[in-house]
Amino acid sequence: MATDTGRAAPSIPRFPDGFLWGVSTSAHQIEGAAQEREPSVWDEFTSEPGRVKDGSTAAVACDHYHRYPEDVALLADLGVDAYRFSISWPRVDSPGGLDFYDRLVDELCAAGVRPVPTLFHWDLPASLDWLQRDTAARFADYVTVVAERLGDRVDKWITLNEPAEHTLLGHALGTHAPGKQLLFDALPVAHHQLLAHGLAVRALRATGAADIGIANSHGPTRPASVEPADTEAADFYDLLLNRLFAEPVILGRYPDGLGELMSKDVESDLKVIAEPLDWYGINYYAPTRVGAPRDGDSEYGGMRMPPGLPFSLREIEGVPVTDFGWPIVPEALTELLCGFRERYGARLPPIIITENGCSGEGVDDQGRIAYLDAHLRALHTALEAGVDVRGYFVWSLMDNFEWAEGYARRFGLVHVDYETQKRTPKASYQWFRDVLRAQR
Ligand code: NOJ
Repeated sequence: MATDTGRAAPSIPRFPDGFLWGVSTSAHQIEGAAQEREPSVWDEFTSEPGRVKDGSTAAVACDHYHRYPEDVALLADLGVDAYRFSISWPRVDSPGGLDFYDRLVDELCAAGVRPVPTLFHWDLPASLDWLQRDTAARFADYVTVVAERLGDRVDKWITLNEPAEHTLLGHALGTHAPGKQLLFDALPVAHHQLLAHGLAVRALRATGAADIGIANSHGPTRPASVEPADTEAADFYDLLLNRLFAEPVILGRYPDGLGELMSKDVESDLKVIAEPLDWYGINYYAPTRVGAPRDGDSEYGGMRMPPGLPFSLREIEGVPVTDFGWPIVPEALTELLCGFRERYGARLPPIIITENGCSGEGVDDQGRIAYLDAHLRALHTALEAGVDVRGYFVWSLMDNFEWAEGYARRFGLVHVDYETQKRTPKASYQWFRDVLRAQR
């Protein structure tokens, strides 16, 4: 089949009717207009020298706050069913802040694109701290305010984005905001975010919301060798990345070995955390190879690793990597999804891939097309194997502020010139549009 532009339509296998196709972004990474809201932990972090590789901040980013009509037009032209964006808690706390999301949601609805907001994507108000249990209750209050205002037009909600990274990078290793290096003393941050998730589900349901999920990051973990020291280290990393945030939500318990590490009795909180979900979101990028700690492993993927960790992250040899250095292993997505179904069986809600994509330069981004193509095929293989997957969101609609990497890593289907704010759809944007048309 040829498209209206004369290109051959990509031969991606057919996904089920009703499968939800979308793209994702987050507030701190695209909005800018930092002066028009309260500060977040990320504003404080990026103002400290040395925290972000290119010394940049997200004060302007893609200026989406002012240019959202143009960005919504790009979404409509792309032909996605849904747009996953995040709501900035510090903006909602600022006078007129919620009006912005009102306008954005109206614009999306008018363009026929379903809004799917994430309520927390790492930009915690600077006055708050996840080490404090009370932050969970404050989150639920904020969620109520947002849901009461937008719930007449928004019916699909995501509570948290990647609490694992926010805990590990932000509070254990200190490479993300708020820059704390607490190692295992960061575990209360995990528990308080999970509690915030459960309280948010209750708050959303109280406003009538009926379609709620979470976006957790997952990826298969591979031991560096068959030596017990390596397999134990890999199992431990798997516990932190794949089980710590999934099991409380899906099974209502912490994995063995972690519940005991939490400072207090968590049993009654686990009832809140395990509030039933309508679907479970997975952000997938790459598998990780893990071995026992060894001298000289102080860096991984450009990230400084502090001493004292019970594992070391290793390169996967013999596979291509993205310009971020992340291994490209599409079949690991099939493995991950089939593994989830095996691990959780009937307790596992339907899955939505809430993020998948890769970084890379250039507007003729054939590498990104190859990455997305291969991952969609791997996803389809999981569907054929019987895993119930209901949707797929590319990260990201457009190039944006990639946290500690600044603007150096480009994940967008749309190129952003940060000097002029000009948006240029890349080859991958045209390709994804063709994929979507061929699926209709
Ligand atoms: C996951 C995060 O949710 C998102 O904010 C980030 O930009 C992408 N991964 C790529 O690193």
